[in-house]
Amino acid sequence: MVLFDQHIRRAITAIYLILYIQHTSAFRILSKRDNLNSGTSSTGCPFAKLGNQANSGIDTANDILGPIFSSVAEPLLTHGEQIRPEPGFYYQEPNITANPPDQRGVCPGLNLLANYGYLPRNGIVTLAQVLEATSRGFNMGTDLALVLAATTIFTSGNILTETFSIGGPDLRVGIGNVGGLDRHNTVECDISPNREDYYTGKCDNHHLSSRIFKQNVKCAEQQCGLFNLDAMTQQYSQNADYSKTNNPYLFYSIPSLLVSVGAHIFYSYLFSNGTYEFGGTPDYTSISNIVGAKLVTTNNDYDFEYVPERWPEINNSAGKPWYRRGIEFDFAAFLAIVPLVYAANPVFLNFAQIGTSNLTPQTIACDFYNTILQFTPAYYGQALEDSFNVTTWIIAKLDPVFSQTIFGCPAASFSNNGGNCPSNQNANKTNNSTCFAKTNQYYKVYFPTASK
Ligand code: HEM
Repeated sequence: MVLFDQHIRRAITAIYLILYIQHTSAFRILSKRDNLNSGTSSTGCPFAKLGNQANSGIDTANDILGPIFSSVAEPLLTHGEQIRPEPGFYYQEPNITANPPDQRGVCPGLNLLANYGYLPRNGIVTLAQVLEATSRGFNMGTDLALVLAATTIFTSGNILTETFSIGGPDLRVGIGNVGGLDRHNTVECDISPNREDYYTGKCDNHHLSSRIFKQNVKCAEQQCGLFNLDAMTQQYSQNADYSKTNNPYLFYSIPSLLVSVGAHIFYSYLFSNGTYEFGGTPDYTSISNIVGAKLVTTNNDYDFEYVPERWPEINNSAGKPWYRRGIEFDFAAFLAIVPLVYAANPVFLNFAQIGTSNLTPQTIACDFYNTILQFTPAYYGQALEDSFNVTTWIIAKLDPVFSQTIFGCPAASFSNNGGNCPSNQNANKTNNSTCFAKTNQYYKVYFPTASK
């Protein structure tokens, strides 16, 4: 109980810190953006590994990724790190064409755990399974996993059975054709490390974006090939700039901030081979395998295909398997890092358009609408659909204003909020023609360039 109180106190302190950073001029002083964007290369990388020690899929691409491979240290295994996967857990490609399909979605961590059987391979998971799998597979703290998973169940899953789909809506969850981890503006949010915004991606918020991963690789190149916190802070800063400029319907609240900034942090702290900050290395081989980014070259150019997520079991850069971090990454440790990354490029909370040219009556109206939708549980979708033909009372009341007038928020600014009834066209927003690619497909390049 005492420990729990401490966590809560530290969490509250961190949230106050975020608000302080946002609302005082301090973030100009704290901002690392100018430094980061100036392209200052790191001074000399202490480690030297040959490019051909990289994973086999990309051996031929040393010219492109040279700096990434020439600098990676072997992890120092001093903190009881354990090899993953363990005996009994093995990689198996998800069957995304089955009927019903194996669900995969926005979270590479959960996708990977399902690909190895740490989570059910069909991607329909319970709260208890997620707590066990994230701890066992990655040593994520149970308190951090609980915050993420419980919020997901509330907004995008079934609160009675404590179940959710790690991808799109799925009848096996028992709440109709609604919800799923991909449900936008709930836990899933804008300014992701390597996915497009829901709006700029035309509803595709879940496939790895080649454009953004190329940018991420460049950030890592400046850090001796490591996807360390500096690289991921730079990545966050550039992603935030891109979204502020190109996404008039950018929506960013405290929950979005924690998940968006948090996801950038997870690259260094949870995908690192060994314990980050204690000799673990978030190197290209670990990161690219875990997030499913496979380099493909096309006439003088290159891109990243999205492939199923897996640990670098074979031929990793150190010629060794992947080691799970030895020290648990808990909620307090996580919250302590969030403000550092956010300070590099703060986004105005709830009105992300402030300070950009996208501030209009319509975008403010959509911010308001999205604030309501964010905590509208998908669970009610099915329960109310039968009698009311809508997800919730509030959506039914407000839809005429926000979906059908000059304030209308485009379909690609918020996702399926419930209901699947043919007589209510508005009920299933994601079937709108402005959206594409709702199901996961692998071995394809998504967003080689910016999609506007
Ligand atoms: C505990 C349950 C978890 C839930 C409910 C969850 C949920 C999510 C969601 C909703 C997103 C999309 C965020 C966005 O739109 O920016 C996401 C992304 C992400 N998650 Fe998870 N996650 C969980 C566990 C994990 C774990 C254990 C890891 C790492 C080992 C992880 C790593 C990531 C990363 C790196 C991204 C960003 C993907 C990208 O855009 O590149 N997550 N997660």
